[in-house]
Amino acid sequence: MSLPSPTADNRAVVTGASSGIGTALAAELAARGYSLILVARRAERLAELAQRLSLAHDVTVEVRPVDLSDRTQRGPLAEELATRDVAVLCNNAGVATFGTVAELDPSYERAQLELNAVAVHDLTLAVLPGMIAAGAGGILISGSAAGNMPIPNNATYAASKAFANTFCESLRGEVKGSGVHVTLLAPGPVRTEVPDPADASLVERVVPDFMWVSSQYTAKVSVDALVRNKMRVVPGLISKGMSAAGQYGPRALTAPVAGAFYKRLGG
Ligand SMILES: NC(=O)c1ccc[n+]([C@@H]2O[C@H](COP(=O)([O-])OP(=O)(O)OC[C@H]3O[C@@H](n4cnc5c(N)ncnc54)[C@H](OP(=O)(O)O)[C@@H]3O)[C@@H](O)[C@H]2O)c1
Repeated sequence: MSLPSPTADNRAVVTGASSGIGTALAAELAARGYSLILVARRAERLAELAQRLSLAHDVTVEVRPVDLSDRTQRGPLAEELATRDVAVLCNNAGVATFGTVAELDPSYERAQLELNAVAVHDLTLAVLPGMIAAGAGGILISGSAAGNMPIPNNATYAASKAFANTFCESLRGEVKGSGVHVTLLAPGPVRTEVPDPADASLVERVVPDFMWVSSQYTAKVSVDALVRNKMRVVPGLISKGMSAAGQYGPRALTAPVAGAFYKRLGG
């Protein structure tokens, strides 16, 4: 079984489509013929991408400017998706904070958890019954290698991605044999934009060049993995190394090593 073929009515939904991996996932799916529903907060970026992809690939692209961390905005989107013919859902939107939770803004930490974990849960539950009834569909969840281990100075993000990773790989066991494909994208560093040294983020400056893979490559291997119903995709050799260390290394060792590195990012 593969993913449902693109039709005039069905849609691939991509959250976090206004930048980075989400933009690349939208482009990859459009190039494979899928009409899209693009979700993020920045309406102009979504509109611009929609125009570009519909012209380039002759697909229909709808945009939904929604703050997924806000339940009152997310609810209507989830209700709509439950009624639509969703062939593919890419739960990709996510944010990260660096520093100690005691010092970070509590309301932003709560919003991060809501976006990275609860929204993933809500949108997945919205589309799942339709996919199971159809006997086909694909759900890609952007977790992270950071979800494999405890990370001091990145606690809310690491814990929210632990939810994403575990939810995705658990769900996959539940839908086995239903025709629904479920794949976890769990990357290490993915370079989403070519950094200008003048205003590169601290992450861009601290993580050395050789550790990065591109968002286009990440999107391609992710969609390929979803088509093949692979359990987990970890793009790039460095990410694979980080992922293995996080998954199989003793936590008493990996937590302080990761924490010391992330402390620099929160500085
Ligand atoms: N890049 C990496 O190195 C890396 C590594 C591991 C995992 N990941 C995961 O991969 C995913 C994509 O990462 P990325 O690097 O491509 O991120 P990015 O370039 O920062 O893009 C994040 C996307 O999420 C959207 N978003 C943020 N807050 C939102 C909200 N409240 N409601 C709706 N949309 C929201 C943003 O759009 P708006 O601002 O327009 O809302 C944007 O489209 C994330 O889940 C991230 O945790 C990334």
